[in-house]
Amino acid sequence: MHSQEINGQYDTSFIRDTIQGLSAFPKSLQSKYFYDDRGSIIFQQIMNLDDYYLTNSETEIFEKYSREILRYIIPNKDFHLIELGCGDGIKTKILLEHLVANHTNFTFVPIDISELSIQSLSDDLRSEIPNLKIEPYIGDYLETLDRLHNDKNFDTLPRMVLFLGSNLGNFSHSETNDFLSRLSGDLNEGDQFLIGLDLVKNPHTIRRAYDDSEGITKEFNLNLLRRMNLELGSNFDLKQFEHYTYYDIRNQEVLSFLVSTQDQDVQFESFDKIFHFEKWEKIFMERSHKYTLEDINILAQTHGFEILENFLDSREYFCNSLWRKR
Ligand SMILES: C[S@@+](CC[C@H](N)C(=O)[O-])C[C@H]1O[C@@H](n2cnc3c(N)ncnc32)[C@H](O)[C@@H]1O
Repeated sequence: MHSQEINGQYDTSFIRDTIQGLSAFPKSLQSKYFYDDRGSIIFQQIMNLDDYYLTNSETEIFEKYSREILRYIIPNKDFHLIELGCGDGIKTKILLEHLVANHTNFTFVPIDISELSIQSLSDDLRSEIPNLKIEPYIGDYLETLDRLHNDKNFDTLPRMVLFLGSNLGNFSHSETNDFLSRLSGDLNEGDQFLIGLDLVKNPHTIRRAYDDSEGITKEFNLNLLRRMNLELGSNFDLKQFEHYTYYDIRNQEVLSFLVSTQDQDVQFESFDKIFHFEKWEKIFMERSHKYTLEDINILAQTHGFEILENFLDSREYFCNSLWRKR
């Protein structure tokens, strides 16, 4: 018995999404489940890799343009700064320090599905920026945002929403439209949205970011099988899966997979089901879409936003696009 029941129960959404994903053809798993405690720690290691240029590029933008971003914030008015999927929040801290140093009145509202990320970020911020007002939430960001939107105390203040790290790129085309429509519906006219998006560039540079030589990205993917073994009582043998990624230049997205190296059965004790894997059968793990400035323009226009400014790093690898709800 190696299953870890949470509060005496298995996580029913995790079970539902796993059954749905592994019953589909091709088999797939949802990337939001990457981030258990171990997954969140491995992701921090990925962000420190030289080849993973996304973090360095976005950090450079925050260091260079925090003052410019501040110029757009409604003066002398209290507001909520909400971050969806904050992770370790290292880049956000740069903006927060500028905001606090300029005595701007605001409450920081980080939302993340990873309890570890929220706890360590909240602890860090309370000691590093003691004057910061912070109201953290653990949970799915869209569900939390919907709840806050319907909360009368919350809805009266203007909002700036942050969605960094090219997180949007993990969504399919229809998920992207659903996400932006839902977000747009949760915002009021004049609210702002700062989104970090990875730009189209040399395809070799893009591919290397998702296939590091140290095998950390592989470990990040395999960790989801380990998580299912612990939390859903499955018996995946991690040695019998390969990690494979490629950049699909036509659709501007990196696709990553785990591939079964054997004909094998995997049993789940939490819902008493066996899934069969053919030799070389794939599990689709994650997509990471890349954008042109024109794509970004279309996304903003289609979902009821105007672009206030696009901030790019010196290599033009990454864009933080500041939008205003019309
Ligand atoms: C790619 S990381 C980005 C972290 C951070 N924003 C950054 O730019 O470094 C994605 C983060 O979003 C969180 N996350 C993923 N899906 C989520 C969801 N549906 N609801 C809330 N958080 C989610 C993960 O736990 C993780 O911390």
